[in-house]
Amino acid sequence: MTKEYSSGPSRVLALRGIEVEIQPGELTLLVGPSGCGKTTLISIMAGTLNPTAGQVSVFGTELTQLSKKEVTDFRAKNIGFVFQQFNLLPSLTAAENVSVPLVINGWSKAAAIEKSAAVLKAVGLGDRLHSLPSQMSGGQQQRVAIARGLVHEPRLLVCDEPTSAVDAASGHAIMQLIRSVAMQPNRVALVVTHDPRVFDFADRIITLEDGRVQGEKRQSVDPQLLQTKHEVVHA
Ligand SMILES: Nc1ncnc2c1ncn2[C@@H]1O[C@H](COP(=O)(O)OP(=O)(O)OP(=O)(O)O)[C@@H](O)[C@H]1O
Ligand SMILES: [Mg+2]
Repeated sequence: MTKEYSSGPSRVLALRGIEVEIQPGELTLLVGPSGCGKTTLISIMAGTLNPTAGQVSVFGTELTQLSKKEVTDFRAKNIGFVFQQFNLLPSLTAAENVSVPLVINGWSKAAAIEKSAAVLKAVGLGDRLHSLPSQMSGGQQQRVAIARGLVHEPRLLVCDEPTSAVDAASGHAIMQLIRSVAMQPNRVALVVTHDPRVFDFADRIITLEDGRVQGEKRQSVDPQLLQTKHEVVHA
């Protein structure tokens, strides 16, 4: 797969022939220096960006063959995306932001808010349901973004730097949450990170460099890491 960004005369070849396959039941990390193409790659895998050439198959559905509307519908049902810049809607409360994927999938507002409150509780924000993004710290906003990515129980969860704004204990709790999704046999999680604290949670680490896969390694995860309970505290 390749991706070229062009604006006017300038062109950037962000992905230079990448082939990756992500396995269900495991947590895959995507690492590499700034600008190497991580966000570009996961945006294509999540259907928010089209490749310039190549194919993207998600659970057997070929995204590049779908119409815009079909991609939107497919994403709403199957994909959760936690953005590097959070992308929360500024005029909605935490609970309303988290409820968006459910409302899009036809849930009633009341049921969506109730489920959203439960997921916000799981990320340590049970007491901030009615706060606006502007009234929360960066780490709290990040946890709202994570809750929104998880709330509709997507089969593919994609997180771009999900621990960049939180402290160690919250980062640990967030990774346990993401990993519990990844360990289900019919679900997949893909996490972009610069954060070495996250590496131990991964079954597989793929390194990108300059738009190409530079290497990959598999490792086993210490079961104790998944058991140690950390409360999501402050961030
Ligand atoms: N919309 C865009 N228009 C033009 N060039 C872009 C655009 N988005 C990204 N790029 C370029 O594509 C390359 C890959 O960018 P990308 O955002 O995928 O990197 P990244 O690995 O996620 O970096 P970081 O770790 O800093 O988030 C970079 O050279 C970047 O400048
Ligand atoms: Mg990025």
